[in-house]
Amino acid sequence: MQKLSIHGGVPLSGEIRVAGAKNAALPILAASLLTAEPVRIANLPELNDVGTMLRLLERMGVKAARTRHAIEIDASGLAEPFAPYELVKTMRASILALGPLTARFGEARVSLPGGCQIGERPVDLHIKGLAAMGAEIAIEEGYIHATAARLKGARIVFDTVTVTGTENLMMAAALARGETILENAAREPEVVDLARCLSAMGARIRGAGSDTIAIEGVERLCGVEYAVMPDRIEAGTLLAAAAATRGDVTLAGAPVASLDAVVEKLREAGARVEVDGDRIRLRMSARPKAVSIRTAPYPGFPTDMQAQFLALNSVADGTASVTETIFDNRLQHVPELRRLGANIRIEGSTALVQGVEKLTGAMVMATDLRASASLVIAGLVAEGGTVIDRIYHLDRGYERIESRLGELGARIARVS
Ligand code: UD1
Repeated sequence: MQKLSIHGGVPLSGEIRVAGAKNAALPILAASLLTAEPVRIANLPELNDVGTMLRLLERMGVKAARTRHAIEIDASGLAEPFAPYELVKTMRASILALGPLTARFGEARVSLPGGCQIGERPVDLHIKGLAAMGAEIAIEEGYIHATAARLKGARIVFDTVTVTGTENLMMAAALARGETILENAAREPEVVDLARCLSAMGARIRGAGSDTIAIEGVERLCGVEYAVMPDRIEAGTLLAAAAATRGDVTLAGAPVASLDAVVEKLREAGARVEVDGDRIRLRMSARPKAVSIRTAPYPGFPTDMQAQFLALNSVADGTASVTETIFDNRLQHVPELRRLGANIRIEGSTALVQGVEKLTGAMVMATDLRASASLVIAGLVAEGGTVIDRIYHLDRGYERIESRLGELGARIARVS
């Protein structure tokens, strides 16, 4: 199994271009199921999750021609609207096939995702929404079986803000008869990026980015050429790493507007952050100050940045509380950070961090995608060597993280 070996203590410095967003690429790939015409996607990140989504599409009979950061998809010959357990269990976002398949083919069989490292994560709201649009739903042998002659528009109020739930129903509604209103919809930038792509395919969508999205269904959608937005979580992770190592890093092609909550906290931690167009430069010259955070749906502080800020707080001056409100088991990186010398106490869904002067390298184990990123940041700061095991989690969502950080001067290598 591959591991990452890090020799900490080097301040990150230099310039790097932000990669395409995983959480926008996945729904946009799923959206290619909505049309028989070619869909060309650019700025596609090279990630294991993208590979899983492509395997899922190809398993259904979709043809895909991929170069490193672009793809052309042809879903005209889709034979089997089926998402098997083997693929869904490795990537929950596979559930994004449910809406498009039901809308275009009148049928879908998609595995229920099952348990997840970071919490219970049900998909009941995806299912309820499709049912409200007239789909017949049966749960059989662990699979969601949805059928509908043609979905019809409906008013759907989400009990909880759900990102992929909003995306799934927005895609389904694009081909439904009549108007669908999604209330308490997710406002995440990736929802907006998907809506832009769907609109370029001929969908009629208003309000994406607000909590009420109206979709007027159309008979058919057409092919499109679309470039995925830059990844605000990769960007935020690199900035947090720069701040923790007291570095000087410039991000090019950054999704500046979507990073407000993160940049505000980095400034509070003492970083000098300058924005110029789509470039962000972060400079940190002293020990970071502790910053308390509480995760929330967008535009609040993203849960996908919580673990990285826990690493930053671990070496900060002062105490901070980090509260996770989205997922019920997303503090699994805490025991691993403690192995590096962090002083963190857990009370319910809050981690109370007392910053320490220094961390020291150790062997640690990645438990989920963003937890892994926090261990990388801690490893970059720690004195001596850190070895991170189970880095397949990292490869799901960060493109070649060792060479990206290497470009910024980090001493980091992938070892077998
Ligand atoms: C997406 C992101 C993930 C991010 C998360 C929250 C993708 C591919 N993944 O995940 O990186 O951490 O948003 O910003 O975009 N819930 C229900 N019932 C449902 C659906 C969700 O109760 O049917 C709950 C979840 O358990 C969770 C909360 O809603 O507590 C938010 O989850 P959700 O926004 O759906 O997360 P994902 O879309 O899976």
